[in-house]
Amino acid sequence: MQDLKGKVAYITGGSKGIGYGVAEKLVAAGMRVAISGRTLKTVETAAQYLGGSDTVLALQSDVSKLTDEKAAIQQILEAWGQVDVVIANAGVGHFAPVDEMSDEQWHQMIDTNLSGVFHTLKASVQGLKKSKGYYITLASLAGTNFFASGAGYNATKFGVVGFTQAAMLDLRKYDVKVSTIMPGSVATHFNNNEPSEKDAWKIQPEDIGALVLDLLKMHPRTLPSKIEVRPTRPDKK
Ligand SMILES: NC(=O)c1ccc[n+]([C@@H]2O[C@H](COP(=O)([O-])OP(=O)(O)OC[C@H]3O[C@@H](n4cnc5c(N)ncnc54)[C@H](OP(=O)(O)O)[C@@H]3O)[C@@H](O)[C@H]2O)c1
Repeated sequence: MQDLKGKVAYITGGSKGIGYGVAEKLVAAGMRVAISGRTLKTVETAAQYLGGSDTVLALQSDVSKLTDEKAAIQQILEAWGQVDVVIANAGVGHFAPVDEMSDEQWHQMIDTNLSGVFHTLKASVQGLKKSKGYYITLASLAGTNFFASGAGYNATKFGVVGFTQAAMLDLRKYDVKVSTIMPGSVATHFNNNEPSEKDAWKIQPEDIGALVLDLLKMHPRTLPSKIEVRPTRPDKK
């Protein structure tokens, strides 16, 4: 994996935010990158900015549906014949006191953030065993720090951390690396944010991209399986 040129990556939720920032770094490193999201038009627009159709593939997939994820991996294999890196990044957040959280908000977070990472793994694991590849989830510091109005989001991200660590133990015997990245605040569109100057103190999406590159280039014998990453200096209000 240390030579990334021509390797194939799949990033769920790659149309904006962290997924897009990671895609930029992987394309710049010479990889072929498939990105997905719920609306094909949005993903296609992002893909055009990232590079030509030889190096970037735009896919429609809602990670809450296993059939969508299976179809996305099938399209990648048909286009490029392999999958080396899978980044389960797609996620949503609804923040409200637990007594006010709606059933719909709860289920959207569970189905996307938690079941989604399972669907993405389930669809890609055969390909990753073949390539002796790398599966990375985007959890959050909310996967270790709980906070008021975070009951649903915390539940999903604590779940993603547990899921990823157990999957790491299951898959390392096939030489498949598995890691979870747990960021603090990142300047993205998450939770209806519009990234601007006010977000300059936050981690930037390309910083997570650089972190992913470091992981991919790490010696095969070494695996940082759980990575916490936070802004160096918290917001000065
Ligand atoms: N921003 C932060 O401070 C922060 C911190 C820690 C962890 N995270 C995690 O990082 C990940 C990426 O978030 P972000 O901050 O980059 O948010 P973002 O800017 O809102 O981007 C989210 C991406 O996920 C896609 N998406 C949402 N639901 C989806 C679904 N059901 N199926 C497929 N794609 C879906 C979105 O595309 P469409 O809407 O077009 O489908 C978009 O591409 C999430 O898992 C989030 O929990 C974020």
